[in-house]
Amino acid sequence: MERRTGMKRGLPRKENAMKETDMAYGEELVFRPLPQLVIEANVNPQEFATAQASAKADNLGYWEDAAQELDWFNKWDVVMDDSEAPRYQWFKGAQCNIVYNALDRHIATANKNKLALIWEGEAGDTKKYTYYELYREVNKLANAMRSLGLGKGDRVVLYMPLIPQTMMAMLACAKIGAVHCAVFAGFSAKALRQRITEVEAKLVVTADGFYRNGRIVNLKATVDEALVGGCDCVETVVVVNRAKLDVDMGEARDIWYDALVRQERSDAATEIMNSDDPLFILHTSGTTGEPKGIVHGHAGYMVGLHRSLDWVFDIKPTDIFWCTGDMGWITGHSYVVYGPLIAGTTTVMYEGHPLYPQADRMWDIVARYGVTILYTAPTVIRMLMRYGNQYPRMHDLSTLRLLASVGEPISPDTWLWFYKFIGHSQCPILDTWWQTETGGCMISPFPVSVLKPGSVHRPMPGIEVDIVDEDGNPVEAGVAGNLIVTKPWPSMLLDIFGKPELRDATYWPLGPGKYWAGDIATRDEDGLIWIHGRSDDVMNIAGHRIGNVELENAFLTHKAVADAAVIGIPDKIKGEVAKAYIVLQAEFAALDDRNEIIRMLKTHIRKEVGPVAVIRSMEFVETLPRTSSGKIVRRVLKAREAGVQVDLAAVVED
Ligand code: WTA
Repeated sequence: MERRTGMKRGLPRKENAMKETDMAYGEELVFRPLPQLVIEANVNPQEFATAQASAKADNLGYWEDAAQELDWFNKWDVVMDDSEAPRYQWFKGAQCNIVYNALDRHIATANKNKLALIWEGEAGDTKKYTYYELYREVNKLANAMRSLGLGKGDRVVLYMPLIPQTMMAMLACAKIGAVHCAVFAGFSAKALRQRITEVEAKLVVTADGFYRNGRIVNLKATVDEALVGGCDCVETVVVVNRAKLDVDMGEARDIWYDALVRQERSDAATEIMNSDDPLFILHTSGTTGEPKGIVHGHAGYMVGLHRSLDWVFDIKPTDIFWCTGDMGWITGHSYVVYGPLIAGTTTVMYEGHPLYPQADRMWDIVARYGVTILYTAPTVIRMLMRYGNQYPRMHDLSTLRLLASVGEPISPDTWLWFYKFIGHSQCPILDTWWQTETGGCMISPFPVSVLKPGSVHRPMPGIEVDIVDEDGNPVEAGVAGNLIVTKPWPSMLLDIFGKPELRDATYWPLGPGKYWAGDIATRDEDGLIWIHGRSDDVMNIAGHRIGNVELENAFLTHKAVADAAVIGIPDKIKGEVAKAYIVLQAEFAALDDRNEIIRMLKTHIRKEVGPVAVIRSMEFVETLPRTSSGKIVRRVLKAREAGVQVDLAAVVED
């Protein structure tokens, strides 16, 4: 990797006291925080060292202290029970509700009249809610959900855009003890149906449509398609009137959101939940063809988020926090909704596309609301970088004090652009590593850390990781290996919905105390961690995890396809895109118009999986490389992409 060039011992270091700099070949860039930032940080370097030492000496005591900073109905009997490891029960015996910490408790404090949410639609319409207003809206919806017969443990699927009602629906579910299961709006009717039936949702909340890059995306029609036949579990569909579309409303089943909540009271009891009662299910791709429904609960999840907001994001009373993640993914759950609200900060939500109406939309939003912390993804930065520096220059970005990145490795040139043109060489970049399964940040610099562009730095205090070979033996500094987490942590996944037997085999193949992240990483000589990407058959397309097998299975359901293999290939903006190798059925192989077949297959994938699965190119081949036991060998195809001569027909050893 080029980024390792500068990391060899003995090369000169170029230290930057947050001043403008250009990357010079062979030099290692190191960025030190501004003195003012160190003075004002929630955790200064000494406190960081103390926290790390105390967490090492007494991990459970460390997390217990974090938990004490939140509100509980009843405290725990034990901080963590590992008697059934690798099943770990955090805060066993305690009772709480994450919504009590995210909303209810703020109403009795000065936060009551503070802005909880600033929302902006793509067309420029805005809405702001104080904590009190949001609390009232959530209570109304919670009462309405209760009157629909929903309660503890019931599942609610959210097929929603980035609008305030999505946040309200999540919080209302949590308030009544129901379990939300968000499905990203870029998934097809078929993928939606699969998830609805898997979790046996009683209620689906959606919108008529939403605005994206100047167009209206129709959501209700997709829900209708998903519910045609075979979704008997769904009793009600609640529809937010976002885009004023003329949608079909099924008389017995469908109800407008506004009509549902209009008559409801604005106070509602908050359900008392046990620590490990499920809060939400969120599907993520794995190496099998089927996505896994990752389950998170109330207690551990909120403790983990609380620490990351307070310490990594250094939240202050005056902050305006903008995480650009979608609520259909974990980043939106943790850092648009739950984390910021637990921290009592103001969270920003933008419905639309970063390029609408032009490439300065994000900078315009930062300037207008005075955003202080901007949390986004490398794929977004790369896209905006392409449009040049004139767009950020059009706006006053001086309110920003911290920048952050998540979802994929950020290359040093992207890091430097973000640092220089968005942060004006004043703002540290927090490159946070984590996953749907980890619930919240795990490895990340703190604002006071000395940064190296491209490195995710060190594990947070209380988190311990290692880099190991296939057998679990630690590898040396500079050698690539598998990232594992060696101690349980509070916001860890509870389960895989409906498939508890898969949980341990997938995440603890090396046994308890060795959580298998599925990422390749190295540690440099200073002990800093660099993530290189997935080690398994999962692609990272624009920061979204998409399983190769999931796409292959989708291809195989088309009558023209005899065999299919999908690999990720590098892309300048999206990081990775999918390329499909297809063996056609004989009658289709004989057709001359390959473009027509490509069009047909692309439409098919859109229908099967959704627009989220971008197939960049397709190649038609006679055969696919397989092992003697019949498994596709994607690395042979990857080698071919890289220009290596390979024989696709050769059988590869297992
Ligand atoms: C990748 C997103 C490099 C990684 C929060 C991980 C990263 C997967 C980083 C999880 C980062 C996440 N640097 N790679 N800072 N953060 N990843 O579940 O491969 O959608 O396993 O969660 O994204 O993706 P997920």
